[in-house]
Amino acid sequence: MLNRRYLCSFDSRRILHRFTDVAVIGAGAAGLRAACEIAARDSAAVTVIAKGPLQDANTSRAQGGVAAVLMPERTGDSTELHIQDTLASGCGLADKPIAEITIREGVDRVRELIDWGAEFDRKDGAIHFTQEGGHRKPRIAHARGDATGREVLNVLARRVAAQPSIQVCEGAYVLDLITENGRCTGLLTWRNHAGLVAIWARAVILASGGYGRLYRENTNGPHSTGDGAAVAYRAGAELKDLEFVQFHPTALYIAGAERFLITEAARGEGGVLKDAAGVRFMPSYHPMAELAPRDVVARAILDRMNKTSQPMVFLDLTGIGREKLATSFPGILAICRRFDIDPVREPIPVRPGAHYTIGGVAVDSWGRSTLPGLYACGEVAVTGLHGANRLGSNSLLEALVFGRRAALRAIEDIADAPEASRPPALRVATGFKHRDLDVLDMRRSLESLMAREVGIIRTGRQLADARRLLARWSDCVAEVEFGDPQGWELQNMLLVAQLIAESALWRRESRGAHYRNDFPSQDPAFAASLRLSRADGLSPPGASA
Ligand code: FUM
Repeated sequence: MLNRRYLCSFDSRRILHRFTDVAVIGAGAAGLRAACEIAARDSAAVTVIAKGPLQDANTSRAQGGVAAVLMPERTGDSTELHIQDTLASGCGLADKPIAEITIREGVDRVRELIDWGAEFDRKDGAIHFTQEGGHRKPRIAHARGDATGREVLNVLARRVAAQPSIQVCEGAYVLDLITENGRCTGLLTWRNHAGLVAIWARAVILASGGYGRLYRENTNGPHSTGDGAAVAYRAGAELKDLEFVQFHPTALYIAGAERFLITEAARGEGGVLKDAAGVRFMPSYHPMAELAPRDVVARAILDRMNKTSQPMVFLDLTGIGREKLATSFPGILAICRRFDIDPVREPIPVRPGAHYTIGGVAVDSWGRSTLPGLYACGEVAVTGLHGANRLGSNSLLEALVFGRRAALRAIEDIADAPEASRPPALRVATGFKHRDLDVLDMRRSLESLMAREVGIIRTGRQLADARRLLARWSDCVAEVEFGDPQGWELQNMLLVAQLIAESALWRRESRGAHYRNDFPSQDPAFAASLRLSRADGLSPPGASA
């Protein structure tokens, strides 16, 4: 296991540094919502650190929408039903009090977003709701058809820009969290023109997204390389549930094209899945056919791909009609047409891709991690809302609710903490040297290995093979000091990949998003989360009690 505390050597007195009250790592819905809350309530200085340009967060790729019971009287819905659907989807691992908090507070968070200018699509003047798999009522609000995430992000980014107490640092790579005496006191960043910069903070909120990019086929943006989970693990925070990787059944599959998400709403509107011979196959796999749970559809597609010896199946939207396609899925039409496919007339080649990573940094109901001074929210955090399988469109909701909660707790916790004005004297010397390695080649090999052996369907033998190979590759980089984000990203990806493989090996059952061919049933002996920490290694439930 790549078990280093820091990825690079540094001397805190000799590098650039800055001070802030709260550092927010990540500029997606959770990070920006947290920053907005602090700025609105406190005079605290907030620094938002974005890995890329501000608008590049994974949130911008969210299509389907945000689930919230906004008009129960019109839709016959209730928060109680939404809570029940969320718990059912979580397959015994979803946390009921957390689901209650998220779904009840989430209604206010979405209403507030509307007050701040979010424009959700309407029909006859009222917000229009769609329905996705696992939701018993139509409760998914969406914007500009399939551009919900972008709308949410735009609204939050405008608010952030209007707050003088929030500084945004774009293009900054976070190498590590800095800890002193068991507390997170800052972070080490790298910017192309500035090199290493230490940011000292009284509280750090981690909102850096997930690890979907560990898989060759995925619907994520370039930044979802698991850096957040890796830096938290190295700093001593507990991680959990890493084996639960949610694969979306339909990612666009065209050689050379981005694996663009084709929203589940397209199947909700009547899209059907066909194999290469043009045969509709989902009815023979599940009574709900194309609207069966995501993991079921993803496995069925894989089976069909194997049976037809094809690397894809096809999503046929031709029955939906030109007008509806244009209003509901303008983004999908645009991207397909860029590759000479017209969904109005022909089916779209698709295959499953890693979409949402459920595991990450273990937090309590206020976003506190097990490391004092470190809070986490959004995809990098595990509140317990999703359990073993996330209900579609619950993640934007969770990001808004827990972005705010983590912010509230952080400002409360730092109220009495002294302000730092001088960087502490901290010298880290790894003793390691640079070595020339084909980082890109190792990364591609890792992505393929994860897709092949730690993917939608796993077996103990495959996982053990993956563990062996990952350990060998980790040995190659364990004692290397890289000088740029490509190398550090690879080290983080290898670390998180090993933790996923270990967790998946431990879970000798199938539950939610984790499917083991050698243990195809759910086993009550595994009805709990596996926690991992650098200090304790794997902590099976009960072991650390
Ligand atoms: O299919 C979708 O639009 C996905 C939504 C989600 O993952 O929440």
